[in-house]
Amino acid sequence: MTQTEFKRRRNQLIKMVGKGNIAIVSSSSEQTRNRDVDYPFRQDSDFLYLTGFNEPDAVLVLIPGRKHGEYVLFCREKDPLQETWHGRRAGQQGAIDDYAADDSFPIDDIDEILPGLLENRQKVFHFMGRYPDFDQQLMSWVNQIKEKSRSGAHVPYEYVSLDHLIHDMRLYKSRAEIGLMKKAAKISVAAHKRAMQQCKPGKYEYSIEAEYNHEFRLNNAQHAYPPIVGGGENGCILHYTENSEQLKDGDLLLIDAGCEVEGYASDITRTFPVNGRFSPAQKDIYEIVLEAQQAAIKKVKPGNHWNDPHHAAVRVITKGLLELKLLKGTLAKLMKEHAYRRFYMHRTGHWLGLDVHDVGDYKVGEQWRLLEPGMVLTVEPGIYIPANSKGIHRKWWNIGIRIEDDVLVTASGNEVLTASLPSAVEEIEALMAG
Ligand code: GLY
Ligand code: MN
Ligand code: MN
Repeated sequence: MTQTEFKRRRNQLIKMVGKGNIAIVSSSSEQTRNRDVDYPFRQDSDFLYLTGFNEPDAVLVLIPGRKHGEYVLFCREKDPLQETWHGRRAGQQGAIDDYAADDSFPIDDIDEILPGLLENRQKVFHFMGRYPDFDQQLMSWVNQIKEKSRSGAHVPYEYVSLDHLIHDMRLYKSRAEIGLMKKAAKISVAAHKRAMQQCKPGKYEYSIEAEYNHEFRLNNAQHAYPPIVGGGENGCILHYTENSEQLKDGDLLLIDAGCEVEGYASDITRTFPVNGRFSPAQKDIYEIVLEAQQAAIKKVKPGNHWNDPHHAAVRVITKGLLELKLLKGTLAKLMKEHAYRRFYMHRTGHWLGLDVHDVGDYKVGEQWRLLEPGMVLTVEPGIYIPANSKGIHRKWWNIGIRIEDDVLVTASGNEVLTASLPSAVEEIEALMAG
């Protein structure tokens, strides 16, 4: 991502915030994993979107119309000793030279400097409630100004949530963002192919997970979320992440795994037979899910609304389960009663971007949001039939199937970013045989 693009985003936000006001965004901080060990650092997605700056302990301040520069970045000072232990820091000069800040100050000086920047501003735009410590700090800066009010300093009088402004910007992906999402998709597709080729009875879920680690790191990407690698009954646990069990001949394997590249996620699920051949019962259910996904993807086009793909998927699933006698009654009645929810208990997708469940409103007022070019969403219907399901013949037990692809809305319809990964029964079987 180029600095020009980050600047364009900040300028767009500066316009929306308006003269006389101020926007303040905090980075995320290091999180302790255990004792002296931190989790791998992941930048706050909104902060990353506006700065491209990948260090903790930083604060972005946008001050529309400020003479000495509208973009101020507080960040850690350079410190040779700390950098020897914990890694490089940009420092104030780096913030200006490499991240296009107009002005940069040490984060340790923020309590002295920020009240002066807040003084006489009317509205403060920030992410309320995201980082409670930061909210407290903001209040303490405001109180510092209040104490000076007899010398004529005005405190801001309105606090506005930034969520809506930035999240609406993030919902529409630029050409560069789509480029990164395609790159992430391509790496994830390669990893899923690898997994299909490596899978065989007797291996363990974690050894298949290792194929993803290999492919992702080989391409300088990382998991966008903890991978789900669930064989047999584990495929019916929606957020199964132990990935610890042995894979059995005759079972299915459900894998939901995707990488992120420069913060941009891909999110793919495939379900395939551990031994490379679908059983008749597995195939029956699989074909319903695949048809549901295809029907849903067809509904992804400008002018349709957010719920159209879900509605299409639910209809195909209900009809399919009715034909297999897993549901009983009339299609109309079953649809009305949401009878599919027994076997399909999640929605058909979500926005995708810097966050795997990306930001952006799904409704505008009371209405589902209309799909527009540049939006990216997942389409991921599934059917899950755990063992001992009451009234369900045992031949269906432990069949858990989800098929998930990433779809870009285009002017003429859509583009499936993950289309090069097989999803048809014969294609999967051929890949696994080869
Ligand atoms: N991988 C998370 C999801 O599919 O929503
Ligand atoms: Mn998903
Ligand atoms: Mn997923």
